[in-house]
Amino acid sequence: MLVDNHNRKINYLRLAVTDRCNLRCNYCMPSEGIDFVKKDKLLTIDELLLLSEILVKQGIDKIRITGGEPFVRKDLMVLLRKLRLMKNLNDISVTTNATLIGPYIDELKTLGIKNINVSLDAINRKTFERITRRDQFDTVHNNLIRLITEGFNVRINFIVLEGQNQQDIVPILELMKHYNVSVRFLEEMPFNGGGKNFATIKWNYKEILEHISMAYPNFQKLESPSTSTSINYKIEGHKGTFGIIPSFSRTFCGSCNRLRITATGDVITCLYGKPKANLRDIVRGKNITEEVQSAILKAVGNRAKTGFEAQEEHAQTIFENSMTSIGG
Ligand code: GTP
Ligand code: SF4
Repeated sequence: MLVDNHNRKINYLRLAVTDRCNLRCNYCMPSEGIDFVKKDKLLTIDELLLLSEILVKQGIDKIRITGGEPFVRKDLMVLLRKLRLMKNLNDISVTTNATLIGPYIDELKTLGIKNINVSLDAINRKTFERITRRDQFDTVHNNLIRLITEGFNVRINFIVLEGQNQQDIVPILELMKHYNVSVRFLEEMPFNGGGKNFATIKWNYKEILEHISMAYPNFQKLESPSTSTSINYKIEGHKGTFGIIPSFSRTFCGSCNRLRITATGDVITCLYGKPKANLRDIVRGKNITEEVQSAILKAVGNRAKTGFEAQEEHAQTIFENSMTSIGG
């Protein structure tokens, strides 16, 4: 079992399989994209598998596949098929923008990979196109509805962006009220490839909740697991639920159970901190298991207590990384 220096059990790995994305969301990267890494710097599927195997032996029992956009990687299903067979790995989840998942939905269902989080920051075509700078609204919408109706456990992640999409908050809840889906509203975070920096946000979780309660006064708070990133609610008469993720306010650090490995092998022990080790050379060398295990133990044994403490690792408050390279 992995336990950090603040006595938090670490059992959840967020594994980024690529830094590339086929959308260009304006809060994540500039329109021309960022300097994506060269292919030989990315972990191969075999390397991702080997690392997963070692970490599962160390006590990880949930892996969430992230990116970039994971399905940009053509060999993603090879990884998922093999992860599915891994003993003691109880939960394989995927976070996706739902543009490319269509052809894989049947196989995901067969594999029993049920937890799919869909990043979607708009329910209106114009808002979608303005934010993503791409014409993919129909594809995303169709794939989303297909995933929900095929019985996947779908969570929509909607980042509330000041001046861009607050007008879509109530409509998305209204549109989703007949579906068994969780719509989660996220506070914006200051990772967008270095260009943006802010110390406060207007749309924090209190503001978001207040906005929703004006349209739907009758809602109830739900019990959530202690490690949940979202505070969850149910609106009377709605089939699904909604949640708020205070990713900027960071109220859930006390129960943080997560470790991140980026597509280039960086080990990140807090979303707001700097990488603590790199596993790519280790996994391409000798004594792989021993060296990976010891790098992980060292990183986990030196975690910042909160995202605010981790943030101090950056010289200024400007983050150089884009969300697409950290994996969210
Ligand atoms: P579940 O497995 O469904 O609980 O999902 P999750 O919330 O762990 O994963 P998801 O990929 O859906 O994360 C959605 C967003 O939540 C991320 O893009 C971040 O904005 C935020 N988030 C996830 N994990 C963390 C975290 O450890 N710290 C902070 N501050 N935000 C996080
Ligand atoms: Fe964990 Fe850091 Fe996120 Fe807090 S901000 S929940 S410590 S990863």
